[in-house]
Amino acid sequence: MTRFDAMPARRMDHVAAFHVMDIQRRAFELEAQGRSIIHMEIGQPDFGAPEPVRARAAELVAGHRLGYTDTLGLPALREAIARHYRIVDDLDIDPARVMVTTGATGALMTLLGCYTNPGDEYLMPDPCYPCNRHLAALFGGRARLLPTSADTRFQLCADDVRVAWGPHTRGVIIASPSNPTGTCIARDELAAIVQTVRERGGITIIDEIYLGLSHGERQRSALDLGEDVMVVNSFSKYFAMTGWRLGWLVAPPEAMRPLERFAQNAAICPPALSQHAAIAAFDDASIALCESRRRIFTERRDLLLPALRAAGFGIPVTPDGAFYLYVDCGPLATTASALATRLLEEAGVAATPGIDFGDHDAERYMRFAHTCPAAEITRAVAAIGRIL
Ligand SMILES: Cc1ncc(COP(=O)(O)O)c(C=O)c1O
Repeated sequence: MTRFDAMPARRMDHVAAFHVMDIQRRAFELEAQGRSIIHMEIGQPDFGAPEPVRARAAELVAGHRLGYTDTLGLPALREAIARHYRIVDDLDIDPARVMVTTGATGALMTLLGCYTNPGDEYLMPDPCYPCNRHLAALFGGRARLLPTSADTRFQLCADDVRVAWGPHTRGVIIASPSNPTGTCIARDELAAIVQTVRERGGITIIDEIYLGLSHGERQRSALDLGEDVMVVNSFSKYFAMTGWRLGWLVAPPEAMRPLERFAQNAAICPPALSQHAAIAAFDDASIALCESRRRIFTERRDLLLPALRAAGFGIPVTPDGAFYLYVDCGPLATTASALATRLLEEAGVAATPGIDFGDHDAERYMRFAHTCPAAEITRAVAAIGRIL
């Protein structure tokens, strides 16, 4: 037997596990043992890619060479993305500013990889999407988490950014609607943050992966706040194409060549099959389907929210979008982690404890994803009620 003694690089000490993936693994283990588990842990729509995308993919597999594409993505797809901004937001985005990536993850990785110097710090709300902190650490930077509360709908204020900005601050990363809270940042606050960052020569990254999944009126893209705003989006959520690993970013013209150089080396190009097929995601039929699914997510929110409240959870803010409820377990358990374990092991309901999303009040909160049919949501809440 040979032993492997090499230690991972020291920066990996700051790259924590993505807990939700560990919970999902345990849920799968229980299923393999014959247990029935309701999956409310992972942020994955249960619908799958729109039919026109699947049909196009089937044709492509049968008859296409599917070689590497341009690193920035297929020109036709970049144009389709730019056209989508014109239709939805009345925004004129030059396709040359659009880069197709391997999911929003690829977009975040490209931006952080390209712009992070060792010791750079990014301001982020606490709670926020876990991988942002870990990706910053992966490139020698770090996340500076700024505690938020229900008072600001768990979003940052420009004052938070002004106070926290220091000599090593490189920029701000915000998701709107947010994961895990589903809340949007107020438009004037976002504009003030962009201006604050601009005055300090930093970069603003806005993750709009859930923008298409609004429960009410859709918020406008942050792209109209200036060409210097960097926006991330994905086919994973609105288009329900998680496994296709496709997303995009929109960046200032001056940033495109360095971003391209990074991606040429890091990925060569995003998956060709997904790119060709994703052009069909912008067909009228696909959009009509995605819009009907968006309304289903709102119906599910309206089913789950009162039911969890009745079960004893506190829900301080009603989400504006996405498919998550961030709930206060304080009245029910000492720690959200212990409660998540109990819910999974005893009630067969997988949910994600707050520790995935930051430090502030992390053991008080838990996230439920309503990415399963209404009947399952009803069953899940009944099972939770029984064990509580
Ligand atoms: C806020 C946010 N950004 C990025 C991602 C990564 O998504 P993708 O599948 O496009 O890589 C997620 C996934 O859950 C997310 O919630």
